[in-house]
Amino acid sequence: MNVVCVGGGYVGSVTGVSFAALGNKTTVIDINKEKVDLINCGKSPIYEPGLEFLIQQTIGKSLYATTEYHCIAEADVIFIGVETPTAPDGSADLKCVKNAAMSIGENINKNKFTVIINKSTIPTGTGEVVSSIVAEVSGLIPEKDFSVVSNPEFLREGSAIWDVFFPDRIVVGANNQIAKEIMRKLYKPVVTRENYHKLSEQYSNLNWEAPEKIPVFFETDVKTAELIKYASNGFLAVKISYINEMAKLCEKLGTNVLDVAKGMGLDSRIGSRFLEVSSGWQGSCFPKDTSELYLLSEKYESELSIVKAAIDANFAMHRYVVEKIIRFLGCLNGKIIGILGLTFKPNTDDARKTQAEFIIPHLLSLGANIQAFDPQGMEMFKKFNPDLDIKYCDKAEDVAQRADCILLLTHWQEFKNLNWHEMVNSLRFPYILDTRNFLNKQYLEEIGFYYQGLGT
Ligand code: UGA
Repeated sequence: MNVVCVGGGYVGSVTGVSFAALGNKTTVIDINKEKVDLINCGKSPIYEPGLEFLIQQTIGKSLYATTEYHCIAEADVIFIGVETPTAPDGSADLKCVKNAAMSIGENINKNKFTVIINKSTIPTGTGEVVSSIVAEVSGLIPEKDFSVVSNPEFLREGSAIWDVFFPDRIVVGANNQIAKEIMRKLYKPVVTRENYHKLSEQYSNLNWEAPEKIPVFFETDVKTAELIKYASNGFLAVKISYINEMAKLCEKLGTNVLDVAKGMGLDSRIGSRFLEVSSGWQGSCFPKDTSELYLLSEKYESELSIVKAAIDANFAMHRYVVEKIIRFLGCLNGKIIGILGLTFKPNTDDARKTQAEFIIPHLLSLGANIQAFDPQGMEMFKKFNPDLDIKYCDKAEDVAQRADCILLLTHWQEFKNLNWHEMVNSLRFPYILDTRNFLNKQYLEEIGFYYQGLGT
């Protein structure tokens, strides 16, 4: 199929490159020339494991990148995968989606049926908005000449490529029979895994360990599909907030949240995933999606109080981490805190909205000095938090220099193998708070750390 993907960011680039890797002639359009140039040079515009490899394998063969919209005319399907950031009132800002719709309307082929796929996370009803913009600009008739469908992405940053090839489900919201047929054809290789053996040889650098479960191709109407995305992210956020609050209770009761989570997760109705304790959830998805979902529920006078509770519990968790350090160290004025991890989770350079963005200002306001390290996210964190007074370290071990506490916020795998021996000797006070319960507690205690996790 001829695929066009509008947007070369975290959603657009992964979607575009993956469909090119599956054998479709795919063009990624982005108005940012820098991103387009990077892709054309075989470089990834974001840090996402496997993405650069796939770009190098496909560029100029099945993958193309451009700042121009003319290629839209050849497309069978056009993905809209642009950003939908949070507007000042907490709702999703649809400016980029509307601009994309206008450009699609200006360039869409008037002599063939085209499917426009909303991949970005968009509020319920946006499909209709996109459809009317395209109709108005092009003069075409919706559902006769083109159709807008909803096909929300469920990609996790850090394992996004794998999530495209091996999703649990593919949700397609379509109100049009021809559009449904085209979507079935587009996703047939993923649902049937027909060429996967060949692809796994071709892309042997990637992890092709397929789960047994074949993805479910789930069809519904456009508005319902749009809501499924918010309902899913909202539910996952509730799940994490639940275990985070449980962690606090465990500390009071002297019980171990790791075992509580394990015991709960063994019930197949609950499941073990997304029960990992943290200093709270963050990222470019959960905060904006829970905010939009809650506003939507208020607007329709059907308040999702449980989502509001999860948001409040999340901020409380950020504060709890600081309170815990104070309980151990006392007054933080003049103390040095070494932070490990500035991204919202490992295996991404995405530092747009992270736990550190909330916890560091709180620590600074109490007079603490901050020195920090992240393997991929330092540049972006600096860019989005230019006013924070932070000493950025060249290597992870340096955060320990004369520090009174090491605070691990993101569980990058490489943090497991740091020279902890050197670090414990560099510290002024050997205290470590591991908010992900990730490091080897026994080893760290043996070499002289006062180790604390969360809820253990
Ligand atoms: C999330 C969803 O998981 C994806 O399905 C969805 O497509 C994506 O949002 C999106 O809307 O685009 P992502 O934001 O990449 O994906 O990250 P997650 O892996 O969901 O993690 C979100 C936050 O929750 C991170 O800060 C993570 O560290 C935290 N988390 C996750 C926990 O604290 N505990 C857990 O058990 C799991």
